[in-house]
Amino acid sequence: MLPTPYVKCDYETVYEPSEDSFLLLDCLEHEQEYLASRFRDGLSVVCELGPGSGIVTTFMMQNGIPARGSSMYFAVDISPWALEATDDTVRRNKCHGTYLDAVQCDLASCLKPREVDLLVFNPPYVPAEHVPEIPNAADDHSTWLDLALLGGENGMVITEKLLLQLETVLSKKGVAYILFCARNRPEEVANRMKATYSWDVELIIHRKAGWEVLSVYRFSRKTANHS
Ligand SMILES: C[S@@+](CC[C@H](N)C(=O)[O-])C[C@H]1O[C@@H](n2cnc3c(N)ncnc32)[C@H](O)[C@@H]1O
Repeated sequence: MLPTPYVKCDYETVYEPSEDSFLLLDCLEHEQEYLASRFRDGLSVVCELGPGSGIVTTFMMQNGIPARGSSMYFAVDISPWALEATDDTVRRNKCHGTYLDAVQCDLASCLKPREVDLLVFNPPYVPAEHVPEIPNAADDHSTWLDLALLGGENGMVITEKLLLQLETVLSKKGVAYILFCARNRPEEVANRMKATYSWDVELIIHRKAGWEVLSVYRFSRKTANHS
């Protein structure tokens, strides 16, 4: 079992690693060989959307996911506190010599088209009346934290935006791992993405967490040329 990064953050402002975060780590460990073989040649561009504390990005950097020594990492979060926490977690875990850029941005809008090889997202997935407005002030702590959790209608408002960006963001052989809870109706999402957009979508891992069932799906282009 791969070690879990050491994380020490202010959980008044940043999402505390929870069952969903750990399911994502287990998913990436499970996929390690698959990813290493898919990205064994050349430099891979890795992007975590919504890194929060930085636990997942640090885990990938520490363990050379997808390919040891030949990846550059981007951590993109809407919250300034999450970016600070991510830089701090990477530093605490001594991920020297690996390129990381932590960028404040709304989802993938700051990424160059078709450059991301590995995209990982544990989104705000809790159903809520609406997604909170982005605060003007950094010290509006509770709203930054709400933004980490609340996903609007069916908990899918933010995830749906990202699904629409996948085509533009992922490289030819790119893959995305996205976490869902059962109330997001992930099977329906998977079937729609397969039928409408010709994606390969596969359930990689799922787990009961309290009264919630969490799952991670892998998205890749059906027509990907892996050579
Ligand atoms: C559920 S937390 C996941 C944190 C961390 N990846 C983990 O697994 O523990 C969701 C993260 O997404 C970020 N986020 C929410 N909306 C976003 C958006 N529109 N663009 C980028 N990041 C966003 C939040 O600030 C938060 O850090």
